Amino acid sequence: SSGSKMLVHFVNQSGVKSSVFVTEGETLLDVVIKKNLDISGFGACEGTLACSTCHLIFEESVYDKLEPMVDEEIDMLDLAYGLTKTSRLGCQVTVERWMDGMTVHVPQEINDQRGKQEAVSTK
Ligand code: FES
Repeated sequence: SSGSKMLVHFVNQSGVKSSVFVTEGETLLDVVIKKNLDISGFGACEGTLACSTCHLIFEESVYDKLEPMVDEEIDMLDLAYGLTKTSRLGCQVTVERWMDGMTVHVPQEINDQRGKQEAVSTK
């Protein structure tokens, strides 16, 4: 039924927001791939906990309700650039009903920062 679709908002490295309907049980990596979201380099290891490119930052109220991390996720997250207190690996987070309406942020990459600021200032 249509009740199993949740709306999730992704904000990419450039601050561009994509709002997509997602199905319960998909991981956030599945969603990014299926919806072809414009997030460069996301999910390099295809969800095998061998990279940290699927790093996402959650709202605190959402983060607090997520399933606990396994050791492998903790180890990989440690290597992630721009780690925050509400960071998780997107391939390890499965969409659940209560996540309807949440917003997840892709951390900004240090290399993209200069280009982005130039782009903004010339507008
Ligand atoms: Fe590599 Fe999530 S896609 S750890």
